[in-house]
Amino acid sequence: MREYWITPSVLSADLARLGDDVAAVLDAGGDRVHFDVMDNHYVPNLTFGAPLAKALRNYGIKAPIDAHLMVTPTDRLIEDFLEAGVDTIMIHPEATQHIDRSLQRIQDGGAKAGLVLNPATPVEWLNHEMWRLDWVLVMSVNPGFGGQKFIAESLNKIAALRGMIDESGRDIRLAVDGGVDAGNIAGIARAGADTFISGSAIFGSGDYPGTIARMREALAGV
Ligand code: DX5
Ligand code: ZN
Repeated sequence: MREYWITPSVLSADLARLGDDVAAVLDAGGDRVHFDVMDNHYVPNLTFGAPLAKALRNYGIKAPIDAHLMVTPTDRLIEDFLEAGVDTIMIHPEATQHIDRSLQRIQDGGAKAGLVLNPATPVEWLNHEMWRLDWVLVMSVNPGFGGQKFIAESLNKIAALRGMIDESGRDIRLAVDGGVDAGNIAGIARAGADTFISGSAIFGSGDYPGTIARMREALAGV
């Protein structure tokens, strides 16, 4: 069976004490750090950039950091995040002009490359690009905010992508982002996802170890 990864999204962390909060959620069992970058242009919200990812590294965070870029233009920031030392960079196909060039640049820069599909973005975007990808990220909410409700139709998309990935024979992570909690994580895994990004359900719970343990228990029953 594929290894499941639970990835807390720092969007919902305590930003005033981010280093401590990220360290706490990793101690509590988080596998990686999901880092949401928003520009108030591609999405109607503004968060943080590469200097903060670098600050987490300097603080001593060793876990992989996955940058989710919700920004346009995309290419300039890819350079900054490569330089900051993140492990994965995921981009939205609608936000960049030459998708394959952007993905290629991420990989040439030494990071894993992912493509992110919004709720209404069809899986066909991947038809000629699967061969290059390291990650596919399904948005199960509209990008821009934490704390939204999981869109159930995402399960059909996850299942379709699981079929496409298996058929490709490639080692591609299938991640889901938005509205993931201990109550729905098993169904999302059953649909075919292996990587679970969760912000408000973990950081808003006040009990990081308990919440992540409940998620793992649910995954163990899949
Ligand atoms: C939304 C972000 C998500 C967000 C998920 O645009 O991409 O990563 O943090 O937050 P929750 O888990 O609260 O839906
Ligand atoms: Zn995200």
